[in-house]
Amino acid sequence: MSDTIIELQSISKTYQHDGKIITALDNVSLTIGRKDIYGIIGLSGAGKSTLIRCLARLVTPSSGRILFHGMDFASLNIGELRTFRKKTGMIFQHFNLLSSRTVAGNIAYPLEIANVPKEEQDKRINELLGLVGLKEKKNAYPSQLSGGEKQRVGIARALANHPEVLFCDEATSALDPKTTKEILNLLKNINRKLDVTIILITHEMEVIKQICNKVAVIEHGKIVEEGLVTEVFSDPKHSTTKHFLQKSSHEIPPEFFKEISANRKLLRLTFKGKAAGEPIISELVRRFDVDANILLGWIDRLQSLTLGTLIIEMTGAPEGIRNALGFLQEKHVHFEVIENALE
Ligand SMILES: Nc1ncnc2c1ncn2[C@@H]1O[C@H](COP(=O)(O)OP(=O)(O)O)[C@@H](O)[C@H]1O
Ligand SMILES: [Mg+2]
Repeated sequence: MSDTIIELQSISKTYQHDGKIITALDNVSLTIGRKDIYGIIGLSGAGKSTLIRCLARLVTPSSGRILFHGMDFASLNIGELRTFRKKTGMIFQHFNLLSSRTVAGNIAYPLEIANVPKEEQDKRINELLGLVGLKEKKNAYPSQLSGGEKQRVGIARALANHPEVLFCDEATSALDPKTTKEILNLLKNINRKLDVTIILITHEMEVIKQICNKVAVIEHGKIVEEGLVTEVFSDPKHSTTKHFLQKSSHEIPPEFFKEISANRKLLRLTFKGKAAGEPIISELVRRFDVDANILLGWIDRLQSLTLGTLIIEMTGAPEGIRNALGFLQEKHVHFEVIENALE
């Protein structure tokens, strides 16, 4: 049939706490396709964990439907539920390893639950250790491992029963940037080589940038923007998305924002692919009697897209600036007048 693996239809989830009702998810609809690396990004408290727990069927939504391969979660019998569990794996921010078991023992755990014969277990454990690059640590205990190694064990354990879908709840949030990159690369390889669909939640745009093909931005329990990462990145619509993008890696120095006025504007121009900014800027300056200085420029590489950004300072008479902005619009240059540095 279609290539949809999981579909959320109008999911809401409320909690009662101290006599108050908290709406953690508010009418969320999402479609996750086969082999997607689907990123869900939001600030703390936005509802990310609740969402991924609903997806993993660890909590039951208050209303709405979740379809797994077109089957309604709510209608699954115990056998089907067991099959669902086997087809999904989950990794966690704090790894959740059993400290009394070795690396091999941790990976064995889901195999034991699935009644996999001992010999097969050993074979599978060795395969998984090879996959996550931990062969030498087979008999180590979690306390003897680095954070990155612990997460590799978490990943091996989650993949033990050949799942179709891997849920990742802030899987790299406890790791340093270098280790984060390594773990994300591992997840990307798993997605490519083993055809595992990955759903990850994070509060870091860098994570989304590095491996996701799709992204949804969640705020106060609602999805405020979603789509292909390349599209959302090159043309963010919602202020929260812009906020996350602005925060990721390229800080605009706050002093750039001093003396913003009708005669001085800061613009962010983005160019997809090879389209270069310079000719357009020199044309602006010639035609509209404004000055345009390039203050900053950088290039982002997303999977299939190169995205160039220029931060320019435009000064001149207000009318000249207005006309220059109109010209950019006419030329379909994607730009944004930016007003504030992020605190
Ligand atoms: N078990 C719970 N009981 C009561 N409130 C909860 C529970 N789990 C989450 N919440 C509330 O739901 C909201 C969303 O939480 P959560 O899904 O953990 O967000 P995130 O993972 O994005 O930080 C928060 O206001 C949180 O306090
Ligand atoms: Mg959370």
